Amino acid sequence: MRILEGEGVSKHFGGLAALSNVDFHVDAGEIVGLIGPNGAGKTTLFNLVSAALTTKQGVIKFKGRKITGLKPHQICRMGLARTFQSVKIFGNMPALTNVYIGSLFGIPAGTPSAYAAKGAEELLEFVGLSASKVTPAKDLTLVNQKRVEVARALATKPELLLLDELMAGLNPTEVAQAMELVTKIRDRGITVFVIEHVMKAIMGVCDRIIVLHHGEKIAEGTPQEIANNRAVVEVYLGE
Ligand SMILES: Nc1ncnc2c1ncn2[C@@H]1O[C@H](COP(=O)(O)OP(=O)(O)OP(=O)(O)O)[C@@H](O)[C@H]1O
Ligand SMILES: [Mg+2]
Repeated sequence: MRILEGEGVSKHFGGLAALSNVDFHVDAGEIVGLIGPNGAGKTTLFNLVSAALTTKQGVIKFKGRKITGLKPHQICRMGLARTFQSVKIFGNMPALTNVYIGSLFGIPAGTPSAYAAKGAEELLEFVGLSASKVTPAKDLTLVNQKRVEVARALATKPELLLLDELMAGLNPTEVAQAMELVTKIRDRGITVFVIEHVMKAIMGVCDRIIVLHHGEKIAEGTPQEIANNRAVVEVYLGE
């Protein structure tokens, strides 16, 4: 099943075509990678999907329903959550409270808030942070701040999770842990769409990879196909 699909998606910033006529899809149950050099349009694509940015060019559908034109909270409510390339956490609030806020959003109206609290605790443990519950989020390391963001996104109970550079700036051990986390998220039945520069991670966890360059889709395929794709190799070697 196509959980996410985009057709002819474009976005201009003044004279700059950040995205040009991009078609893409993600099937339910997949881990799909979105790669490309700096400025390729990856984050712009996520911003359009999550309605952090809007466009009048192209159509984006989630679970078969057109979401172009909806507000971010409406899209989140439908089951699509995201994290941010530069973390956007509530720095002065404890790690657990950050996740609790996501949980409160994710529980059906009328559900006791104790249920949200329990969910938040479980998710903080799931991302490996149960020891840091009361730590103000701003005092966590970058890797742990990113984990808080993942837990908060999961707390909204998504069917599709967009991860924008979860692994940037992490050491090899942390990258391995992050790869395991992504796999564990998919094992919970959540489809994952990831932007990542860490090639080892992308090649290791993704079922399929989409490559952007200067706002255009230049390739799409299995990790193996992408690694052997001439256009992709040229773009990366040419950097
Ligand atoms: N809000 C904005 N206003 C103006 N230009 C923007 C805006 N957001 C992105 N851009 C430009 O659009 C292009 C695509 O940016 P985008 O952030 O989508 O790239 P990216 O592939 O995520 O790159 P990176 O790997 O560096 O995160 C870049 O040239 C960027 O400078
Ligand atoms: Mg980006």
